[in-house]
Amino acid sequence: MNSFPAWYFDESKMAGIDFEDIAQVEAFDCKQTSSTPEKEQALVKRLGISSGHTAIDLGAGTGTFAIQASLQGASVHAIDISQSMLAYAQQKARKMGVTTINFHRAGFLTYEHNDNLADFVITKAALHILPDFWKMVALLRIASMLKPKGILYLRDVIFSFPISEYESSIENWIEHSSMPEGEGWTVKDYQMHVREEHSTFAWIIEAMLRRAGFEITEANYLTPTTAEYICIKTA
Ligand SMILES: C[S@@+](CC[C@H](N)C(=O)[O-])C[C@H]1O[C@@H](n2cnc3c(N)ncnc32)[C@H](O)[C@@H]1O
Repeated sequence: MNSFPAWYFDESKMAGIDFEDIAQVEAFDCKQTSSTPEKEQALVKRLGISSGHTAIDLGAGTGTFAIQASLQGASVHAIDISQSMLAYAQQKARKMGVTTINFHRAGFLTYEHNDNLADFVITKAALHILPDFWKMVALLRIASMLKPKGILYLRDVIFSFPISEYESSIENWIEHSSMPEGEGWTVKDYQMHVREEHSTFAWIIEAMLRRAGFEITEANYLTPTTAEYICIKTA
């Protein structure tokens, strides 16, 4: 087991929504409309993940992507810092007859990959939980888990609006994305995200990806507040 210096980030103290809270975990799949089985299956196919591949999902949440990658025949490691999320994801996988996913309670900054170097690392809606310095450390660690030419898929709340328009851009995002209580992420959830979590600008994320040894082969600004990247490990 690795021991970390006293100055190391404590990722068990999660910013924003508390994903150890069972109520949050149970409500998650209804709120997270970006992660349905159909959308995750399409992503698995788009990335070309199949049998013989090793894939790591960091911040795996309720396991929807991990289950679809496993159904496609890949060897999958699903990593999450929340014990409640992991327990829920394990139960969901079992119900679907998927028994081969390796679940690990760990995080971006603590997971030790002791299997074959991975062909794919996927991380969706999770990296923003870390402040920028620690995002960079996480990306270096991700690069070390991948084979040469391995693929990183990153999707997150990432800001591509003009910097000077931050106020109107954030207000528009919250107004147009929030849902009434019980139907999805609420105004309060979005407000907390901006206030307490660590989503940052696309140009910062892109510089970090390159400095971690990745070539960005695809950058899609899905909305002014959401981006996805497909990257190849070059170094
Ligand atoms: C918004 S959910 C996203 C889940 C899933 N990837 C998706 O696309 O729906 C963020 C997940 O990251 C997990 N998490 C929080 N901090 C983490 C960390 N430092 N390392 C890994 N996972 C973390 C949370 O427990 C939660 O399950």
